[in-house]
Amino acid sequence: MEQHSGPGKSLLRFLTEPSHVNFGGKVHGGMVMKWIDQAGYTCAAQWSGTYCVTVYVGSLHFLKPIMVGSAVDMRSQVIHTGRSSMHIFIDIFAGDPRERGTHRCAYCLAVFVALGVDGRPMPVPQWVPASEREKALERYALRLVEHRKQMDAEAAEILGDAT
Ligand SMILES: CC(C)(COP(=O)(O)OP(=O)(O)OC[C@H]1O[C@@H](n2cnc3c(N)ncnc32)[C@H](O)[C@@H]1OP(=O)(O)O)[C@@H](O)C(=O)NCCC(=O)NCCS
Repeated sequence: MEQHSGPGKSLLRFLTEPSHVNFGGKVHGGMVMKWIDQAGYTCAAQWSGTYCVTVYVGSLHFLKPIMVGSAVDMRSQVIHTGRSSMHIFIDIFAGDPRERGTHRCAYCLAVFVALGVDGRPMPVPQWVPASEREKALERYALRLVEHRKQMDAEAAEILGDAT
């Protein structure tokens, strides 16, 4: 398994249970989304040292089903920071613990904002990518920021005023 430790990285590991799955023995997509939020929050709260809220989850890809009794690895890492926002990449691996190794089942990008005691966004430590992979992931996050700006403008035009 690729090393997943160090600054800006967090790892949640657990076994899937019958309450996580549908009749086919596969984990519900909504359950995976809950784990994504928990894993991303853990990473963001550790990086910022404060309470954080989710403001965006996207680029979510379900690649392979996760079966009951699987060992799940939720590998989260900071890939970009703004003033108060943290862009967290969440890479989800799973496999039968009786066999060696796991495989990627899903991945996504989530943005969390650090909040001060007044409930307002507060500054976070800046993420400085070091490895080529970290630099590439930050470029990916920045490209998604630009992409979202365009798509948000388009959505605003279509949806109009919601009030
Ligand atoms: C988080 C919150 C307090 C921020 O308030 P705000 O008035 O939008 O504050 P700002 O405009 O200064 O935005 C703060 C940061 O969030 C980022 N942000 C806000 N909404 C975003 C979104 N949808 N996607 C990506 N980034 C977002 C901004 O870019 C900014 O980043 P920066 O400080 O790094 O430049 C407010 O948006 C909120 O309460 N949202 C709901 C959060 C929530 O209920 N989550 C679900 C349960 S945890």
